[in-house]
Amino acid sequence: MSYETLLLSIDHGVALLTINRPDRLNALNVIAKEELDKVFSELEANPSVSVVVVTGAGEKSFVAGTDIGELSALDETSGRAFALRGQAIFNRIESLSKPVLAAVNGYALGGGCELALACHMRIASDKARFGQPEVSLGIIPGYGGTQRLARIIGTGLATELILTGRQVDAVEAQRIGLVSTVVPASDLIPRALALASSIASLGQVAIRYALEALRASNLLPIAEGMAREADLFGLCCASDDFREGVRAFLEKRKPEFRNR
Ligand code: COA
Repeated sequence: MSYETLLLSIDHGVALLTINRPDRLNALNVIAKEELDKVFSELEANPSVSVVVVTGAGEKSFVAGTDIGELSALDETSGRAFALRGQAIFNRIESLSKPVLAAVNGYALGGGCELALACHMRIASDKARFGQPEVSLGIIPGYGGTQRLARIIGTGLATELILTGRQVDAVEAQRIGLVSTVVPASDLIPRALALASSIASLGQVAIRYALEALRASNLLPIAEGMAREADLFGLCCASDDFREGVRAFLEKRKPEFRNR
């Protein structure tokens, strides 16, 4: 399937998805958001994809937010629907059963920061800048930013960033836990693909259940989260990959996982 605003390539279990509107700094218009919804549903269903890397086209921007040109007609009812639709699309990304890694190559502002937050992992180039500038437009983050930013970097700092719109550079983003790694811009995609490949080479049953257990930590009270973890641990123990992983360790060889 081809897309108007996205580029997709798949190689050895790793999908590289590029938001491709460089003349608008990859701002998400309605078409881009609906295409994101479609492509993630296809990536979920595609058995040849184990890990997804998301980045932005060009050197300047990951995603510079929602397309501001499409905001002006919103009223209370359509604004609420606009936020709910964006949330549903980003929730689909967060709830993908396969790991999604944001490779943040430049501006990740507004909906771009929220897109990175909906991914399971974030690495950044030294040129990346993060921010939630919505208050300067008279709105608030509407694609999950108020919820996910607070969970990832803590409520105090998230409050400061959302109430001021202050941008955070890559070094600060790493210090506050918004990204795990910062690399020179030219290394970003190779490093992201290498990280994705290392995950894709493992048994995907354990990867899927680990993601599910981690997701439960955001959604459930801790006692229920622990119960979910134990259930998923049990399911891992019923898998062929578990038997192969343990046998290979004891036989001092590389495991050959079959992802079942
Ligand atoms: N929506 C629509 N168009 C956007 C956009 C957005 N979110 N972000 C950038 N663009 C467009 C600009 O209008 C400009 O178009 P033009 O060439 O027709 O004038 C083009 O992308 C390049 O952006 P420009 O502003 O000239 O680049 P810059 O280097 O001077 O500034 C930013 C970069 C990211 C600081 C600036 O574009 C910006 O503040 N963007 C909006 C960020 C934002 O508020 N996002 C949240 C939206 S809710």
